[in-house]
Formats: sequence, C-alpha cells, structure tokens
Amino acid sequence: MNASQPSPSDVVEVRDLVVRYSAATALDNVSLHVAPGEMVALVGPNGAGKSTLVNTLTGVLAPALGSVVVRARIAQVPEGRQMFGDLSVDDNLRLGAWRSPGRGRNRREQRDTSWVYELLPDLVRVRERKAGGLSGGQQQMVAVGRALMSRPEVLVIDELSLGLAPLVVADLAEHLTELNREQGTAVVLIEQNARLALDLCSRAYVLEAGRIAAEGNSADLAASPDIARAYLGETQGLPGPPDAPDAPGPDAPGPHDRATVVPASTPGTTETARGNQDTAVRGAQAATREAK
Ligand SMILES: Nc1ncnc2c1ncn2[C@@H]1O[C@H](COP(=O)(O)OP(=O)(O)OP(=O)(O)O)[C@@H](O)[C@H]1O
Ligand SMILES: [Mg+2]
Repeated sequence: MNASQPSPSDVVEVRDLVVRYSAATALDNVSLHVAPGEMVALVGPNGAGKSTLVNTLTGVLAPALGSVVVRARIAQVPEGRQMFGDLSVDDNLRLGAWRSPGRGRNRREQRDTSWVYELLPDLVRVRERKAGGLSGGQQQMVAVGRALMSRPEVLVIDELSLGLAPLVVADLAEHLTELNREQGTAVVLIEQNARLALDLCSRAYVLEAGRIAAEGNSADLAASPDIARAYLGETQGLPGPPDAPDAPGPDAPGPHDRATVVPASTPGTTETARGNQDTAVRGAQAATREAK
C-alpha cells in the first residue's frame, strides 16, 4: 500500500481542517494522514500552526470546520514538557496512565512504569527525584515516558529538541526510532530542526501560515533547494552521502551542494521576511509537485 495516499486504515485522518482562535484563523483547510507505524514530520516556522494542529488531533482544540478522525490511542508530548515539577519522576510517569482505559489490563498493570524505564534507562537513577529539578533533556525523557504510559499507538511530540544539547537530542531520537521499530508506534514529530525531522521521518508536511505548503517523501523534500533554503537554513538541499562527488561552490545549482546559512524567515515581520516566506511557499509547492 502506498502510505502517501489516505487509506481507511490510517490511524489519523484530517480533512479540510479549519481551526480558529476567536476571529483569527490558525489552520486553513489542512488535510493530513498518518498510517499505522508511520513516522511523519510536521515542520514550519514559528506561528505556522503546528501546535494548533496537534492540539486538535488530541482533542485539546475543536475544529471550526473539517474533520479529524483518530482511529487509535493517541498521546501527546506537549510543547514545553509541562512537568509536574513538585512530583517525582515516577509519579509524573504514573500520571500518564491516569485516564487510560482498562483494555484488558488491570489498574496495577496500567500504572507499572518498569517498561518505560527499560526503554528510557537514563530515567532509572532519577526516578525518585522531583521532576522540576531535572535537566531539560531528562525532563523531555520524562515527558516522552509519561505519554508512553497510556500505551499509545500514535505518539505526537511537539518540539523534541527545543533547548536541548545535540547529544541529548540524538539520544532521544534514537529512543524514538527504537520505539517505532520495536513497538510499531506511529509518531507525529513537530520539530523546529527541520533537518532532524526529515532525517527521522519518512514523510513530512510543511506548514506555512496555517496551510500545508508542501508534503511528501522526506528525502524528496530535503533534496529540494527551495525547501532547504527556507526550512533547513541552507542555500541548497541536504549534503549528499560521504562518497558523493565534491560539491560545487555555493552559487552553483544542484540538490546536494553543501550548505551556507540563510536565516529562516519569521512570518510577516518585514518585507524581507515576507519575500522569504513567498519563496518558501513556492519552493515548497514545487517540491510537493516533485514529490507526488
Ligand atoms: N491561544 C491562542 N489564542 C490566540 N491565538 C493563538 C493562540 N495560540 C496560538 N495562536 C496563534 O495561532 C497561530 C498558530 O500558532 P501555533 O502555536 O499553532 O504555531 P506553531 O507553529 O506551533 O508555532 P511555534 O513554532 O512558535 O511553536 C499563531 O498565529 C499564534 O499566534
Ligand atoms: Mg508550537
């Protein structure tokens, strides 16, 4: 089956979704789908509507128009982690199971945290510590572990790497891929670091000012010079594999040139930013056509 086409077996299916905050439209006609066991990235600049989208998937926000169908247990790692700082790590984990329906497991089994420690062994030595006193990376692991306590079939992560050191991010990313591979958990990953998101996930959506600007295979999106310029902070696409021929200079066209940094755009602040956004949208749309 082609996972890039919507299917009745999708665990998440969003059609023509419009979400508003009072009169302000945050999502405008967004459609998206996630197949069982798929890892899907959601990238885009600040204010694009990424958190609004995942908050609608998990029922925190309601659609104004369109439909959201979730056919599996879903759990969210919220933006900013949102620990219960005065509670221990173990208690934070157990809270993740609080509203989980029985589904054949008794209450004691539901609240058993041992398997989460097996998956995230760094948490073992801090299990009795107050979550508020942990490092950012440790807190993010607790947030992931807490979401896992409901045994989700779809895990939605709003900003995996925010404020974390690269090594910590790499560690978390490894845990995620392991979870996906070994337990078949589908993952919807929101990530400011678009390169990381495209590396981790096989498919991606680019959200721009509340609309889907591009979607498709991550490798195709990453290879698009316009996507790279707009979202990866690079003038061209991702660098090629190590044995690729030497890249030409930064002015030469080509999808695998080594990058020089171009600042990412922030929506609607200056004419320049607007220009960057327009280029990003055009590039993203071109990449979507290429990816299809
Ligand atoms: N509670 C709210 N009330 C009013 N407007 C809001 C609210 N939350 C978000 N918005 C607006 O909705 C739009 C989308 O915001 P959202 O938080 O979904 O973006 P985002 O892509 O998650 O951004 P970031 O990368 O900064 O987290 C923005 O214009 C934002 O200002
Ligand atoms: Mg957000």
